[in-house]
Amino acid sequence: MNTRSVPVNLDGNSHKYEVIVGHKVLNDCGEWAKSNLSEDSQKIIIISNEKVFGLYGKEVSESIKNSGLLVETHLIGDGEEYKSFDTLQNTLKVFGQNELKRSDAVIALGGGIVGDLAGFAASIYLRGISFLQIPTTLLAMIDSSVGGKTAVNSQFGKNLIGSFYQPKGVWIDIATLKTLEHREIVAGFCEAIKQGAIGSKELFDKTASFLRDYPINNFIYNFDNEGFLRDLTNLLASQIDFKAQIVMQDEKESSDREDSKSRKILNFGHTTAHALEKVTDYKHFKHGEAVGYGTLVAGEISKKLDICDGNSIKLLNDVVGLVGKLPETKNIEIDKILESFAYDKKAIGQSLQWILLESIGKPKILQSQFIPKSIIKESIIKVLKG
Ligand SMILES: NC(=O)c1ccc[n+]([C@@H]2O[C@H](COP(=O)([O-])OP(=O)(O)OC[C@H]3O[C@@H](n4cnc5c(N)ncnc54)[C@H](O)[C@@H]3O)[C@@H](O)[C@H]2O)c1
Ligand SMILES: [Zn+2]
Repeated sequence: MNTRSVPVNLDGNSHKYEVIVGHKVLNDCGEWAKSNLSEDSQKIIIISNEKVFGLYGKEVSESIKNSGLLVETHLIGDGEEYKSFDTLQNTLKVFGQNELKRSDAVIALGGGIVGDLAGFAASIYLRGISFLQIPTTLLAMIDSSVGGKTAVNSQFGKNLIGSFYQPKGVWIDIATLKTLEHREIVAGFCEAIKQGAIGSKELFDKTASFLRDYPINNFIYNFDNEGFLRDLTNLLASQIDFKAQIVMQDEKESSDREDSKSRKILNFGHTTAHALEKVTDYKHFKHGEAVGYGTLVAGEISKKLDICDGNSIKLLNDVVGLVGKLPETKNIEIDKILESFAYDKKAIGQSLQWILLESIGKPKILQSQFIPKSIIKESIIKVLKG
């Protein structure tokens, strides 16, 4: 099967890289890595976790060794709590112990947690060494591995300490999705629907058609179906291209931009999602599942404000429904969610912004103070309490 390549060109083409999507291509990653690094690169350190490395580490390491590079491995813990300063410090120590030089490189093999942490470590070690990504979750493939945001969590909040640091390349093998837990597939598709809703009607429809053609409950049983593999590859390439286009014209998320192409629009669904994650102590939802609810709340607010027609919002609801049942929300206190918005505002030191919809594919950024509190509250109640 053919691979697809999505180009990312930043800083007026001075920093270009490609995101390659294919099936069963993991054993070619060594040649790919070598071709994206400088001639004097000698060593690559793979950052992963035990689960992912247990599944794919051998194939990746052998492929890299066969390309003539030396390979070291550093495994971090599995879970959001390991995207921390402690893990960062330990990772940097391991880089030092392995005598990584400026010409050497880091590969992230795993989901968004591994990618965010490894990218941040690569960006500050010796003031920046080469970084490559092999994302293995759906969310990491279409979202976190593209765009160069790296981070760790801290006492100040999630993702607030980090850097913008672009990889030299991203290598995606969709075969790795076969081992992903069902809820992680659901979470990834919620982000895909989100990107469709703000990207274009075409991307939204493509995502919806995929979910209709290949019901999500059978996702992992489709990997011997050529049509499924082709459609999944194409869908991922379109999703990645959308994210890349946004990043290319607003790489660092300019704070003063409020137009419909600002990088901020990627936060569609995230105002409510972050609050939902926070009030449930990050234990009840996968991030993408919370985004599923968040897109519905943003849709409902857009409808109630009369900036978007009811049919578009009905369509959004129907397509989110295709991912199946999201975690129960009836025990979540609405007032706690509203309090969490107020806290967010204080923590970031600016007014809360909502990404809403004028239609499918047409986002609109609105400051919270222009939205009646009653509309926000009623929309949350409608979505979470039915
Ligand atoms: N940098 C960005 O722009 C950006 C964007 C979105 C999200 N993020 C960050 O990404 C993180 C979430 O990423 P995620 O959803 O990938 O979660 P994750 O990295 O925790 O991965 C989810 C789970 O799947 C497992 N896993 C990964 N690949 C697997 C595979 N192929 N088979 C079986 N199991 C596998 C992991 O071990 C983990 O238990 C969050 O920290 C979030 O803040 C960053
Ligand atoms: Zn997200």
